[in-house]
Amino acid sequence: MLKYNCLERSGVMHLPDFKVARSSEKIDYKKKDYKLDSKYLGKYKGKKCYLKTYGCQMNEHDSENIKGILELLGFSFTENIEEADLVLLNTCSIRENAHNKAFGLLGKAKHIKESKRDLMIGLCGCMAQEEIVVNTIMKKYPFVNFVIGTHNFYQLPEILENSEEKQQIEVYSREGDLIEDLPVDRTSKYKAYVNIIYGCDKFCTYCIVPYTRGRQRSREKEDILKEIDNLIKEGYKEVTLLGQNVNAYGKDLYDDYSLAELLEDVAKTNIPRIRFMTSHPWDFTDDMIEVIAKYPNIMPSVHLPVQSGSDRILKLMGRRYTKDKYLTLFHKMKEMIPNVAISTDIIVGFPGESEEDFEETLKLVRECKYDNAYTFIYSPRVGTPASRLPDNITKEEKEQRLYKLNEIVNTYFRENNEKLVGKKVPVLVEGISDKKNEYFGYSDTNKLINFIGEDVKLGSIVLVEIIEAKTWSLDGKVSK
Ligand code: SAH
Ligand code: SF4
Ligand code: F3S
Repeated sequence: MLKYNCLERSGVMHLPDFKVARSSEKIDYKKKDYKLDSKYLGKYKGKKCYLKTYGCQMNEHDSENIKGILELLGFSFTENIEEADLVLLNTCSIRENAHNKAFGLLGKAKHIKESKRDLMIGLCGCMAQEEIVVNTIMKKYPFVNFVIGTHNFYQLPEILENSEEKQQIEVYSREGDLIEDLPVDRTSKYKAYVNIIYGCDKFCTYCIVPYTRGRQRSREKEDILKEIDNLIKEGYKEVTLLGQNVNAYGKDLYDDYSLAELLEDVAKTNIPRIRFMTSHPWDFTDDMIEVIAKYPNIMPSVHLPVQSGSDRILKLMGRRYTKDKYLTLFHKMKEMIPNVAISTDIIVGFPGESEEDFEETLKLVRECKYDNAYTFIYSPRVGTPASRLPDNITKEEKEQRLYKLNEIVNTYFRENNEKLVGKKVPVLVEGISDKKNEYFGYSDTNKLINFIGEDVKLGSIVLVEIIEAKTWSLDGKVSK
């Protein structure tokens, strides 16, 4: 007897392949406007979807588009997986624990499906682009109705329909078309993500993103500016220009239009706040720094991942800069952009990282005194060059290094925050906390501020006087 609804196997159409993803063949893609076949409109009226998103801002924004598409099909959304008709996982591959979490949720969905046979289960996002994941799903997870890749998630309506009978695997190894005008249901009414470039060409040796997200493709500047104009009309106060490496914007499209020019054009729309992420230090030009310094609506907040402070490890990571080059850029920014807050990403325990290499990282951290840092233990990703390097550092050593690093970065977060006590900072009001007259939002330098005030309007930008500094947030009151 069937324990769960085992689908007839298998409507495989396309499987992912890392070799194809890595090939340096010129990519050929077309720009297309999204169009939904009217036969799908409202097809799933009354059905509920449980959508779980893992990973970075790019995935969060893809989920906003996925929600937009599913709403047109008639779906509403639930936070309660038990009452869902469709469980959709938008997954992340960056580290092993992201994988484990997604497989854990698939296990839970399988359990629910044992007593709810028509439950649909789908997987999209970066894990869908991994050969090893897709093979596992085909062999061991027959109850999963469909797997759809990052390059073609807009085909959800067709795949969903076909997957009612047969498991569908539709994942393109190479980039598909660049789709404009995707439906979107944004999480915030005040802050919006705007993709400016998809994919990444850097191929850092530890990183899976270039395989899961494909080669660099910039959106045309007119499409970006049109989206931002519409957001302004809808009352949005802040845009974050998104890409795995926004500093490469335009390289694949224009000879003389880069992130510097785009930032300037976005600044001229007069939207009150502009952010951008993530920046690879290698592509950061002086022009970009000048534009950020010049326009008050470009927030003085830069995420500048360093990964390691050791030149030997940076080389093994394929990062294309040395510690000195990074520091020169870092100090130039600190000098040229008034009041700038710089955050970073750091990996410890890269294969072969010696105690001396790690000390170099700590030395760099002590010099940069970051406002924020995301720290990770290296996680080998199947198919990446670093995963083939010999690694003789024990798990305990790696954990100890992470602990030591975190202690140091945390002291700087607090020190930087303490410098703000008594100062007035502009905050975009995003929400009300449970207590009366207590609000929260982010400062220009991207710090979480909890504050008190009377008759504060959500979505407005108010000046808050900082009263107390904590490690990850600040407390204040609205300044009269
Ligand atoms: N495009 C961004 C980073 C995207 S991934 C950039 O290059 O700056 C976010 C962070 O995850 C990276 O900066 C890196 O610190 C970390 N990361 C990526 N691959 C990893 C791996 N295999 N193990 C551990 N951390 C990793
Ligand atoms: Fe990964 Fe490097 Fe690209 Fe960032 S720049 S997404 S770390 S390959
Ligand atoms: Fe994860 Fe993919 Fe983002 S691997 S970090 S969701 S690009």
